[in-house]
Amino acid sequence: MSFSLHVNGEPSDVEPRPGQCLRTYLRERGWFGVKKGCDAGDCGACTVHVDGEPVHSCLYPALRARGRAVTTVEGLAADGELHPVQQKFLDAQGFQCGFCTAGLLMTTAAAAFDAEKLADLPRALKGNLCRCTGYRAIEDALHGVRHTERPRPGQAVGRSPGAPAGPQVVTGTARYTFDVAVEGLLHMKLLRSPHPHARITAIDTSAALRVPGVVAVFTHHDAPDTRYSSARHEHPTEDPDDTRVLDDVVRFVGQRVAAVVAESEAAAEEGCRRIAVTYRELPYVLDPELAMLPGAPVLHPRGPEARIARPERNVCGEAHGELGDVEAGFAAADAVYEETFRTQRVQHASLETHGCVAYFEENADTGQERLVVRSSTQVPFLTRRALCALYDLPAERVRVVAGRVGGGFGGKQEMLTEDIAVLAALRLHRPVKLEFTRAEQFHGATTRHPFTVTVKLGARRDGTLTAVRFRVVADTGAYGNHGPAVMFHSIGESMGVYRAPHKKVDAYSVYTNAVPAGAFRGYGLGQVTFALESAMDELARRLGLDPLVLREKNVIGPGEHLRGPLGEEEDLHIASYGLDQCLQVVRDALADDTSAELAPEGWLVGQGFALAAIACGPPGGHHADATAALLADGGYDLAVGTAEFGNGTTTVHRQIAAGALGTTVDRITVRQSDTDLVRHDTGAFGSAGTVVAGKAVLRAAEALAERILSFAAEHTRTPRGRLRLAAEAVEGDGRAVPLKEVFAAAKARGVELRADGHFGGSPRSVAFNSQWFRIAVDPDGGEIRILRSVHGADAGKVMNPLQCRGQVEGGVAQALGATLFEQVLLDDRGEVTTAAFRRYRLPAYADVPRTEVHFSETTDAIGPLGAKSMSESPFNPVPPAFANALRDATGIRFTETPFLRDKVWQALEEHRGGPEQPR
Ligand code: FES
Repeated sequence: MSFSLHVNGEPSDVEPRPGQCLRTYLRERGWFGVKKGCDAGDCGACTVHVDGEPVHSCLYPALRARGRAVTTVEGLAADGELHPVQQKFLDAQGFQCGFCTAGLLMTTAAAAFDAEKLADLPRALKGNLCRCTGYRAIEDALHGVRHTERPRPGQAVGRSPGAPAGPQVVTGTARYTFDVAVEGLLHMKLLRSPHPHARITAIDTSAALRVPGVVAVFTHHDAPDTRYSSARHEHPTEDPDDTRVLDDVVRFVGQRVAAVVAESEAAAEEGCRRIAVTYRELPYVLDPELAMLPGAPVLHPRGPEARIARPERNVCGEAHGELGDVEAGFAAADAVYEETFRTQRVQHASLETHGCVAYFEENADTGQERLVVRSSTQVPFLTRRALCALYDLPAERVRVVAGRVGGGFGGKQEMLTEDIAVLAALRLHRPVKLEFTRAEQFHGATTRHPFTVTVKLGARRDGTLTAVRFRVVADTGAYGNHGPAVMFHSIGESMGVYRAPHKKVDAYSVYTNAVPAGAFRGYGLGQVTFALESAMDELARRLGLDPLVLREKNVIGPGEHLRGPLGEEEDLHIASYGLDQCLQVVRDALADDTSAELAPEGWLVGQGFALAAIACGPPGGHHADATAALLADGGYDLAVGTAEFGNGTTTVHRQIAAGALGTTVDRITVRQSDTDLVRHDTGAFGSAGTVVAGKAVLRAAEALAERILSFAAEHTRTPRGRLRLAAEAVEGDGRAVPLKEVFAAAKARGVELRADGHFGGSPRSVAFNSQWFRIAVDPDGGEIRILRSVHGADAGKVMNPLQCRGQVEGGVAQALGATLFEQVLLDDRGEVTTAAFRRYRLPAYADVPRTEVHFSETTDAIGPLGAKSMSESPFNPVPPAFANALRDATGIRFTETPFLRDKVWQALEEHRGGPEQPR
């Protein structure tokens, strides 16, 4: 029987390959709205309708769709009208990166999604995961809440227009990294190490090369000798040069050993299975404390030339400093608290995995061929720089482009696929694609750094802190990408936010034979804040003080500097101060709370809070360029280097430009994250999207406005001071000259109405957050319910309240996952055993409470139009706030995340039978 089906009404009679799933069948036919998040039926990103029934197309055999009608997100709209659910997601901005959106739309647009399901969303949406939003925006969308606004000309800042890509996201036409058809594409698959530490003594690729369809196999013999870091920073010297594209020594289970390139993914996979590798196993170490002992296996023998602090002790980076005399400070204290806290490995779990496509195109300017790398990266410019250095290529021969990126959270501030895909593309002179599977995300991408933090606090009877001491050990895993920088950042704002005359720190970033850690939302601050804010709570108990009073007595105030044991960062200023308002949010929640009544009968109830500070941007410079230009139709073109991965920077940049140009957001076209666009952009990380790239946008837009008005003054012979920019015209002296005419007149005179803006990321301000929870704990089963969640956020002038609220909600949701259950587990050889969403639990709809978000009313003196950062920081106070609530409820101080139900139950059992022990 011949095969045929209809997709969105179009017939298709191409026979599926044996065993092919419907997802790949559809994507190979160009239906790119169908996304791959897990390939295991866990995330729902690939949901489509088959004869009107929603199915996970990654599990559905394509052959089973024979004779059926398949609908993808591209087929939801009818007669030019969006499906009501699509419209609702637009109206409520029910997405951030949007990678999950097509799946959610297909689930909720199905006829079976009735009023009963709408009334029970936790159950109805259990098959769809979202990593970005925290689900509240999705809930609002499904309940028909209309949040997005249409601000008047010049009034966009501080309002909530929707994301420019919204219509594309809800119709499945937004193009993410792999949503392109490239002719002649080859597929790469990686063979990964089964050993935690070994030297490759022989590698035989002959059988792999005999697999039909295999084009090439690359091993360490083919890789450049150059060592570099997969981490990307403005200054490459921030990270140790400890990595090779392919190495003859493997240092963790999962490290790349070889790459097979073939005409199909299946052939590449088969090629990997046929490679014969001989290893000489080496001793390994998984505990960072043991790794620092004399005689431990040494992972990276190279020292200063690789910028590794003490290779013989596996210390990748370290920091030691003392302010005052910390022992004298403890001697002067009336109460001292000391404890060791631990945080676990967690994964970014962005729904779009890492990957890239490398191909060749003709450079329109020079006519020369060049390499194009389309990548799921947060850092296209830094990736180009690294690729050029690695393969000795001039910058004009390489273009790096990020399409829409399906979530990053810091994980894509890393070069994990581009280096090896480019090696193959250059050798074969053919396009090559490398797309990580979900399992590879766990085995071969990065994690949050697990930290062990010993904190000691001393205070006088009245609560005045006398001394603060930290010992911090961060496990960077097998490579030092972001290791030293995360360690430094972790002890920066955390040790500066409280005044104390005596402070001391000893901090280490340590190599182990585990999957490497990397950048992740908060960049180390969350781990140390967990320890500090938990300890502050205990100190308050010892002193018999209200924890809020203890914080208020010791936090830095307006005009003060964050001063830690390593000194002050000179370009860091409190250019606006909303921490007092963040703490008032906590006080108000406490005063006006009836949520305790929601606790089930007999459950233990407790409340707790924590605060956190974060610098608006990374130290050492973060550069952004932007270019604004008037277009022939009277609209504007805005070119920005930074990437959009759901953080909403495109929306904010458009608002900033619209404000400066006196127009509406829809008249600003944003092009972004392409090394062809602007001179340089450090990238979308370090909370820099609004405050650094946004400032460059503001400068470009203001300069363009000035240019247009100056030209118009000359053109119309009207004094400049009497002209102003309106939505579509230059107005003055009672008349309006359409911007189209201004453009035409300028063009006729050879004048280009465009302007550049630049910001180097310094000076920097400080943003603040607070989080408060009331929770209930089942004393018999250990189950925890969140009764109320309240967050205070000092983001300066909030550029887009709806979007900023989404960042807070998403950050709180991610942090709750890390607080309660997410954990990347390793076996005794360091192999990740939780390499699927079924084993690595992500917060689902039912796990995330609605968080009340309160913004401080501040205007920053440094940030563009008074704005500060608010993308990473909401994470940081959540784990300690929860720990403090748990302590209040149970009387037990939990010192190690996650607070798994079994662990809580066991602690409660033991607590009943004996004296309290930290957990
Ligand atoms: Fe849901 Fe990004 S918006 S995964």
